[in-house]
Amino acid sequence: MSAAKLRRRAQRDTFGNSFGVLLALAGSAVGLGNLWRFPYLVGQNGGAAFIILYLIFVALLGIPLMLSEFIIGRRSRANARGAFRTLAPGTRWDLTGFIAVLCCTLILSFYSVVGGWGIEYFYKALRFDFTMGLTGDLSTLFSGFTASTWRPLVCHTLFMLATGLIVAYGVKNGIERFSKVMMPLLFIIMIGIAVRSLTLDGAGAGIDYLFRPDWSKVTSHTVLDALGQAFFSLSLGSGMVITYASYVKAEANITKICINTAVADTVFALIAGCAIMPAVFAFAISPGEGPGLVFITLPYIFSQLPLGGVIALLFFLALLLAALTSSISILEVVVAFAIEELKLKRKTAVWLCMSFIWLLGCLCSLSLGRFGSELSLFGRSLFDLFDAISANVLMPLNAMLVVIFLGWKMGRGVIADELTNNGANNPPAWYTKSLYIIIRWLAPAAILAIALFQWLG
Ligand code: TRP
Repeated sequence: MSAAKLRRRAQRDTFGNSFGVLLALAGSAVGLGNLWRFPYLVGQNGGAAFIILYLIFVALLGIPLMLSEFIIGRRSRANARGAFRTLAPGTRWDLTGFIAVLCCTLILSFYSVVGGWGIEYFYKALRFDFTMGLTGDLSTLFSGFTASTWRPLVCHTLFMLATGLIVAYGVKNGIERFSKVMMPLLFIIMIGIAVRSLTLDGAGAGIDYLFRPDWSKVTSHTVLDALGQAFFSLSLGSGMVITYASYVKAEANITKICINTAVADTVFALIAGCAIMPAVFAFAISPGEGPGLVFITLPYIFSQLPLGGVIALLFFLALLLAALTSSISILEVVVAFAIEELKLKRKTAVWLCMSFIWLLGCLCSLSLGRFGSELSLFGRSLFDLFDAISANVLMPLNAMLVVIFLGWKMGRGVIADELTNNGANNPPAWYTKSLYIIIRWLAPAAILAIALFQWLG
């Protein structure tokens, strides 16, 4: 390796240890995807059948894809685009990286708007709005707020600033330290709320809905939604794992880290489901309510519970923290790209990327209200459109390119090297072999089939 290259490597930030990596990855994975997106998609797609599909996708495609991104990131030690440029110089594989950066830009713009909703509801909880003096229907309250012009914009701005601030501090001092404290705290709060929800009178119908599949509700749409949600929730198909893995030391056991991340993320999603669905049924709310589901259902429970005010406060705090550990990871993809590919300083990169995404986010937010008709395309608001394009088009596309790249262009040797840390540890032969088959054959075929099935059907 040349001296310049060695110096460049030495300068790059790294995570402190494997536990820090795991928490940062789990912090990225667990977020609004689990607490906000998963419950409302479950509600729109008929419950248990969707959950089962989701679980299959996490295990069969999610974990192998996460490992693939991990391998590409750790081996190249570069950002989402630089990784492909480093591993396959002179080819157009770096387009895969551009898709990732574009995808993260779109995701963060609407993600930050939802994060802003979290800030508003946290503020309401602080004033004990859900337990005292709050009159009127919570669903009207929610749509009234999201469709208004200024308040959501202010909240979105605050959320974006918080995200930018953490990312500006870099990997070890910003991202890792923050995640280490917040993730365990969030876990405890969520368990508490789920237990409360499951013991409500009338929770039984919700439990049925969560665990007894009704296959007649499954359409091609359900399948792509479940795949998109699996990728979204695990933060895959968008360069995030590539970017974080580029900061991981060579000794880390990547299989362990990936499986633990996937398990943690899935547990959180299921806990969120258990916190929300029983309450939805106990209080006769429509499960198909859409993106407002969490914001409508939970305040309703809080208003009906002893100590509801305190529970509300804790919940929205947890939601905000979870959203932040994810939003920083999305911004980091774009920032790492800007630092290494556009040769900017970290602080400059953060400001630039943040401002641009903030602007897009403002448009997303306005598309839900006064400017609904101007800011819509194909009959969808910009907000919905960004969500649908990223989760159901760009992420599957990027994911497919990643596995094809690793399975066909890099090949078996690279996969084996990375899984064994160049021979330092020794996973069973069936493991490396079946993973290779999944990466090379099954994953690309499955993603392609699901996408075609949906787009043609
Ligand atoms: N997985 C996060 C969540 O569930 C969202 C997220 C973080 C993400 N980083 C990402 C989604 C990168 C897509 C791509 O909330």
